[in-house]
Amino acid sequence: MLVHLISLLAPLIGIAAAQCPDYLDYATLKHQPYSEGVRNLSYQRPDPACRTFDLPLLENKIIPHVMHAVPDPDLFRLFLNAYPNTLDTAVRWKGYAADSADEELTFLVTGDIDAMWLRDSANQMQSYLPLLTANSSVDSLASLFRGVINLQARYLLTSPYCNAFQPPVESGIAPAQNPSASEDHVFPTYNNSSVFECKYELDSLAAFLQISSDYYNATGDVAFFGKYHWVEAINHLFEIFETLSAAATYEPDGRVQNSSYTFTRVSNRATETLSNDGLGNPYRGETGLLRSAFRPSDDATIYQYLIPANMMLAHYLEATAPIMLALNGSTCSVTSAQMIQLAATIRRGIAEYGIVTIGGKQVYAYEVDGYGSANIMDDANIPSLLSAPFLGYLDVNDEVYQNTRALLLSDRNPYFMRGPVISAVGGPHNGPGYAWPMASIVRILTSDNDTEITEQLGMILNSTDGLGLIHESINTFNQTDYTRQWFSWANGLFGQMILDLQDRKPQILAQSFQ
Ligand SMILES: *[C@@H]1O[C@H](CO)[C@@H](O)[C@H](O)[C@H]1NC(C)=O
Ligand SMILES: *[C@@H]1O[C@H](CO)[C@@H](O)[C@H](O)[C@H]1NC(C)=O
Ligand SMILES: *[C@@H]1O[C@H](CO)[C@@H](O)[C@H](O)[C@H]1NC(C)=O
Ligand SMILES: *[C@@H]1O[C@H](CO)[C@@H](O)[C@H](O)[C@H]1NC(C)=O
Ligand SMILES: *[C@@H]1O[C@H](CO)[C@@H](O)[C@H](O)[C@H]1NC(C)=O
Ligand SMILES: *[C@@H]1O[C@H](CO)[C@@H](O)[C@H](O)[C@H]1NC(C)=O
Ligand SMILES: *[C@@H]1O[C@H](CO)[C@@H](O)[C@H](O)[C@H]1NC(C)=O
Ligand SMILES: *[C@@H]1O[C@H](CO)[C@@H](O)[C@H](O)[C@H]1NC(C)=O
Ligand SMILES: *[C@@H]1O[C@H](CO)[C@@H](O)[C@H](O)[C@H]1NC(C)=O
Ligand SMILES: *[C@@H]1O[C@H](CO)[C@@H](O)[C@H](O)[C@H]1NC(C)=O
Repeated sequence: MLVHLISLLAPLIGIAAAQCPDYLDYATLKHQPYSEGVRNLSYQRPDPACRTFDLPLLENKIIPHVMHAVPDPDLFRLFLNAYPNTLDTAVRWKGYAADSADEELTFLVTGDIDAMWLRDSANQMQSYLPLLTANSSVDSLASLFRGVINLQARYLLTSPYCNAFQPPVESGIAPAQNPSASEDHVFPTYNNSSVFECKYELDSLAAFLQISSDYYNATGDVAFFGKYHWVEAINHLFEIFETLSAAATYEPDGRVQNSSYTFTRVSNRATETLSNDGLGNPYRGETGLLRSAFRPSDDATIYQYLIPANMMLAHYLEATAPIMLALNGSTCSVTSAQMIQLAATIRRGIAEYGIVTIGGKQVYAYEVDGYGSANIMDDANIPSLLSAPFLGYLDVNDEVYQNTRALLLSDRNPYFMRGPVISAVGGPHNGPGYAWPMASIVRILTSDNDTEITEQLGMILNSTDGLGLIHESINTFNQTDYTRQWFSWANGLFGQMILDLQDRKPQILAQSFQ
């Protein structure tokens, strides 16, 4: 509400928006007071009057608790800057739908790009899950969650194959220009007043299930899901899933199948367009797996059965099915049994097609095509193979996962980046030589090894160029060469990890990192 209030009151009470610096610039500069550790980390929270959402529980309880648990001044400073980042900077607008007076909407930007990604917004909110309780107040965290879910439902109902979206018309905020997308050829066509970019990524669809089950799990608020457009959105998603389940490059008689989605872009980057005039590389039918044209990095897949996205979808179908069950099926055509069944089909597909043997050990492939080709790698963006237990798909002690993890965190993974600044998984999005702290965070979230966790924390602390924010990627030999100064999701995820360690490994947080 704060952002809304400030923009409404600004002309009256003289808090000109211009007085709040653009966080895009603010995040590249150092601000006092500096942390008292060797890294001399900047303070990066905006002035309280410029923050976009006020959550007293975070200020009065969580931050003091973590301050007590984390005596190291640099580690605490990084938490203090990073964890509130989405609330501080990314709630661009919060309000109501024009056609239903009490339907909350939250437009949550990814950070440095003025658009809302389905994946990012679901994950930005997930960081605050430990703080979420049932609450009908419009000032509550629960209301922010509901607003994101309602807006995502609207986006999915109009453009289910798109990944990033424009502000809702109710906000009065002008749509952002996306020069990279202006010449895209996409089928089905879309409206650029509501869509920012239209790359079809399976995990974007799964992200809607993720935030839905996250909200339900924490609040038990089933009534919310029976109002507005949630059931309609799930029904629509199921039509898409059925289309995708039946899809393959060729019909059984050899004819090329009509694809439900095609995309081409003129670009000098191979990962920005799809081969075969927008179809992508051929994939075989009846595998149980669902195709994804792009990865969670927004890069094109090489083989379209992206295993981590299928893992994510399987788990979140299972996690969302109880909502459908609790709604008693009265208004729905999709049943919880259908959701569980689709998840089981995907799980069988992963077991049958997604596992390959490397050096005598079974490992999960990043991508397969159903013909026998497999891409052995990982990409830092979640869903990744490294994150499979974090996604809830499998137990961290799963043998195939442990084999996969060992391979991915070694030079057998073509996108494992090494260097004196930080060693972590990267990806083609920023290219060889750039490691992603997000992958170090996931490594910590999936580890029980105190030495490994401590080492990763040290690397993350060393990778902020003194700015005290989590960057997207860093040159492993030069920490001043980094990408994205304002990447809210990664910041929130870092905080989520600190809260996880506070429960699981308080002795690690009690250490000095000086
Ligand atoms: C900390 O960084 C600031 C800004 O770069 C600098 O002015 C200050 O001297 C540094 N302090 C120490 C102790 O290094
Ligand atoms: C609901 O959220 C509001 C705003 O954060 C807070 O003031 C209030 O205490 C919360 N109520 C409950 C029951 O948690
Ligand atoms: C939408 O597309 C039209 C026609 O290509 C273009 O003139 C306009 O600038 C685009 N709008 C945005 C927000 O990109
Ligand atoms: C595109 O979306 C805008 C905003 O939602 C709407 O006003 C406009 O009518 C839409 N255009 C078409 C052709 O559907
Ligand atoms: C929330 O998730 C946890 C762990 O997966 C589970 O044990 C619990 O029963 C869930 N709660 C609800 C209300 O679904
Ligand atoms: C494929 O698309 C073409 C052109 O849109 C259409 O004429 C044809 O009937 C479609 N074929 C199938 C099998 O749906
Ligand atoms: C579903 O049915 C149960 C048992 O009849 C009832 O307690 C519950 O309120 C119903 N839920 C909804 C959302 O209607
Ligand atoms: C724990 O992690 C350290 C550092 O990565 C590694 O050297 C060690 O072998 C690991 N221990 C076990 C039991 O895996
Ligand atoms: C972090 O940087 C400090 C100071 O340069 C160095 O002593 C330490 O070994 C680094 N830690 C890691 C894990 O790289
Ligand atoms: C490190 O990166 C910065 C920023 O890109 C660049 O200006 C500098 O020259 C690089 N340093 C070295 C030693 O390559």
